Amino acid sequence: MTALDAVSIIRCKRDGGELADEQIDWVIDGFTRGVVADEQMSALAMAILLRGMTRRETGRWTAAMIASGQRMDFTGLGRPTVDKHSTGGVGDKITLPLAPLVAACGAAVPQLSGRGLGHTGGTLDKLEAIPGWRADVPAGRMREILADPAIGAVVCAAGAELAPADKRLYALRDVTGTVESIPLIASSIMSKKIAEGTAALVLDVKVGSGAFMKSIADARDLAAAMVELGADAGVSTVALLTAMDTPLGRTAGNALEVAESVEVLAGGGPADVVELTLTLAREMVARAGLHVDPADVLADGRAMDHWRAMIAAQGGDPEAPLPVARHTETVTATAAGTLTRVDAMDVGIAAWRLGAGRARQGEAVQAGAGVVLHAKPGDTVTAGQPLFTLHTDTPDAFPAALAALADAVSIEPTSEYKPGALVLDRLVG
Ligand code: URA
Repeated sequence: MTALDAVSIIRCKRDGGELADEQIDWVIDGFTRGVVADEQMSALAMAILLRGMTRRETGRWTAAMIASGQRMDFTGLGRPTVDKHSTGGVGDKITLPLAPLVAACGAAVPQLSGRGLGHTGGTLDKLEAIPGWRADVPAGRMREILADPAIGAVVCAAGAELAPADKRLYALRDVTGTVESIPLIASSIMSKKIAEGTAALVLDVKVGSGAFMKSIADARDLAAAMVELGADAGVSTVALLTAMDTPLGRTAGNALEVAESVEVLAGGGPADVVELTLTLAREMVARAGLHVDPADVLADGRAMDHWRAMIAAQGGDPEAPLPVARHTETVTATAAGTLTRVDAMDVGIAAWRLGAGRARQGEAVQAGAGVVLHAKPGDTVTAGQPLFTLHTDTPDAFPAALAALADAVSIEPTSEYKPGALVLDRLVG
């Protein structure tokens, strides 16, 4: 008979054992109902971080987290559903142009998103820079927006009923040094995405200095675990591993990233943002079984029409001027040569210190704060040329942001720079 009490379950994992299905169900259910105490769950999370979980355990853990709340159902919309999840990077505004683009291709895109914590910004924080835009959309309204062929995409906050066990567990992991466990990250992300009710999912697993996963081997393990969980749950899932050593695009910060996303929707924007948007859109469109080239839909303005409709459907004014920070400061190149490195983590920390991000859940962020990059790796620069403009409403943040950027770039007397690939690998379930 399997022991169903918290201490036996912690001891089992601590000693390298495999948890039985009923132990996993019991502990997640007990934690959700407050019967398993935070300190017990913290000890179990640490045991899992140190000992790992098998594929069966991770699948059952994910299923138990989904079962702790409600599962949304978007069948019967008359259009295929497909979503994208990024593990988070600096300047990663891709959801903003991508969701309306894929909706304009004929899919419904139900994206339940989060706010940022630390050096990577959250999609909701970015969209909240648009005057009037609201992240809370009731489930019934979400369905109406998704079914509307003129809109088809909704980016909103997950309600309290979606995988509540994950919400509580993530908050505990955040303060107990137990975030960095591949089975716990995979089950956390996938429980929310499966509960969200999407039929297909494209994962953008970031690799590099500005990402959760610093090595390609770890990123591949995380991607493989998530793709397996998706396949086991009947969600058609593909993962791309993409480079996050340097920020995506030329902006990091909420309103700054919205403006850059609108440039992409208008047919311009930085080459890397356009490339990643189209690559992910092609994967999503294929997963949704549609036969449309997203490049055509971007070029002829249909994606922009869907953006405007998507913003207006959530109370935003797509034509309103975006907030602008009150103070700026420029960082210039100290030498001439080829810019061979712009460190994503350093830029992310600078943007965060300027007020674009938060250190604790619930803190407010500044809409206009952030960093604009005037040069990207591979560009030739001259001494004294502007490299970054820092934006903030709170100028006392400048010294800390400047300190974060002190070693953010390398300039070398070479013209031999070879850009690395943006997409590093692809895993299919
Ligand atoms: N994002 C999540 O949603 N969960 C994790 O565990 C890590 C990142």
